Amino acid sequence: MSKIIRIAIDGPSGAGKSTIAKAVAKQLGIDYIDTGAMYRAVGYKMDREGVPFEQGEKLDKMLAETDIDFVNGDIVLDGEIVNTLIRTPEVSMLASQCSSIPEVRQKLVDIQREMGMRKSMIMDGRDIGTNVLKDAECKIFLTASAEERAERRFKELQEKGETQSYEEVLADIKARDHSDMTRALNPLRKADDAIELDTTGLGIEEVVDRVIKIVDQINWK
Ligand code: DC
Repeated sequence: MSKIIRIAIDGPSGAGKSTIAKAVAKQLGIDYIDTGAMYRAVGYKMDREGVPFEQGEKLDKMLAETDIDFVNGDIVLDGEIVNTLIRTPEVSMLASQCSSIPEVRQKLVDIQREMGMRKSMIMDGRDIGTNVLKDAECKIFLTASAEERAERRFKELQEKGETQSYEEVLADIKARDHSDMTRALNPLRKADDAIELDTTGLGIEEVVDRVIKIVDQINWK
């Protein structure tokens, strides 16, 4: 049986984590877990059910009755595929807000660790290398300038027909960077043993190649 490899990819919003992680997972034939999608699903459900964004009984009850899983690459919330519903600018902000609530993090980190025990995978997020999979065999911290990240996200939203301006997207990115990096619990930061990869000015294929090279240097087969 071959050894298990867990690749942790962390970094700020819009650094290209999911695009890169998905492509690397495909190339290596391993699973991809998008932990941001899990925070998005919880933020979406809290908003839909009118649960206040603070600690309390309502939130505890909702979390106890919440099931989140990935099935064939789709994110499934309580039996419903929510891939597109969670990819709106509103849900981005809701996800960032709910991610600072300890009970939400505890629930999702437990699920993520359980997923990380079973097989080889690439998991992306903000606290994978520093908290969720501290002992991951490979850790990468993916960054890019705020302006470039906003430009990429703006193009993505335009393709989907969303009407946010570039300035609004940039302001959102900066606001999320701030809340992700300053929250008390497991804020976004580079793990000491992570390799930093600045993707400013690089294309997707170039970044994927660099990640594969980093992974290849680990003797895991
Ligand atoms: O990667 P994303 O934009 O889909 O993530 C949505 C939000 O979830 C982001 O603002 C921060 C939060 N998040 C987190 O706190 N921890 C993670 N491991 C992943 C995401």
